[in-house]
Amino acid sequence: MSRIHASTRTTVLDAAPTDRSLVRCTDLAMTYGAGNRAVVAVHSVTCMVEPGQRIAVTGPSGSGKSTLLHLMAGLVRHTSGALSWPGLGGSPAGRPGRVGVVFQGQSLLPALDVVENVQLPLLLAGADVGSARSAAVDALCLLGIGELASQLPEELSGGQAQRVAVARVLAARPRLILADEPTGQLDQDSAERVISVLLAAADELDAAVVVATHDEIVADRLAEHWRMRDGRLRPSAQDVERGNGDYR
Ligand SMILES: Nc1ncnc2c1ncn2[C@@H]1O[C@H](COP(=O)(O)OP(=O)(O)OP(=O)(O)O)[C@@H](O)[C@H]1O
Ligand SMILES: [Mg+2]
Repeated sequence: MSRIHASTRTTVLDAAPTDRSLVRCTDLAMTYGAGNRAVVAVHSVTCMVEPGQRIAVTGPSGSGKSTLLHLMAGLVRHTSGALSWPGLGGSPAGRPGRVGVVFQGQSLLPALDVVENVQLPLLLAGADVGSARSAAVDALCLLGIGELASQLPEELSGGQAQRVAVARVLAARPRLILADEPTGQLDQDSAERVISVLLAAADELDAAVVVATHDEIVADRLAEHWRMRDGRLRPSAQDVERGNGDYR
């Protein structure tokens, strides 16, 4: 039987009929490319995210953090292992519902202004224009960038664009927030504001949060720490101290 612990707990992974976990990965692997160009980005990862969890994923550049988040979002196909979203249900496309992803790179549509970018996922999910716009404006104000609503992405700084991307995720009221370096281009004050808003919104939405980050101050705001190295989840120093280093 496989086990993983997420810092403070050790959880048996066999699925139960009442499984509420938002995402469950069992022996998950993902390889980019093939032959002598193959890169195993995620290797035999077994983990799960339960409602309400606050998880920081840290590790060196290239260790597989973004790939793991994209797998958990259903954005890329795994090469082997099993992946499911017992507590989130499926979508017509077979992807989980109500997962919000803050991407590491530029992700705003250049032809849409800021408020249109933020309201787009709501419109695609069937909301009417008025309520989508008001949710988008509220989310921008929460992030302290309400005045940017009519700007185009090309008129934003990298940090402003990153906050718009966070607002876009929060406006859609996800149950699972996967944020990939959401503060990577921000100064420390803005980073702390963004992570505070993200965590407060997650509390209000009763959402779980997984943040990939290189920033220790950001990681310290999250209760549980997963560490990646060479595509594998490794026990963090915190886990080893607690005698919880039983990832596999
Ligand atoms: N589209 C791709 N095609 C081929 N290889 C890729 C692709 N995306 C990522 N990789 C490789 O997969 C591995 C894991 O990359 P990933 O982006 O998941 O790492 P990361 O931990 O998020 O890094 P960083 O901290 O720099 O964001 C790396 O070796 C990377 O070069
Ligand atoms: Mg990354």
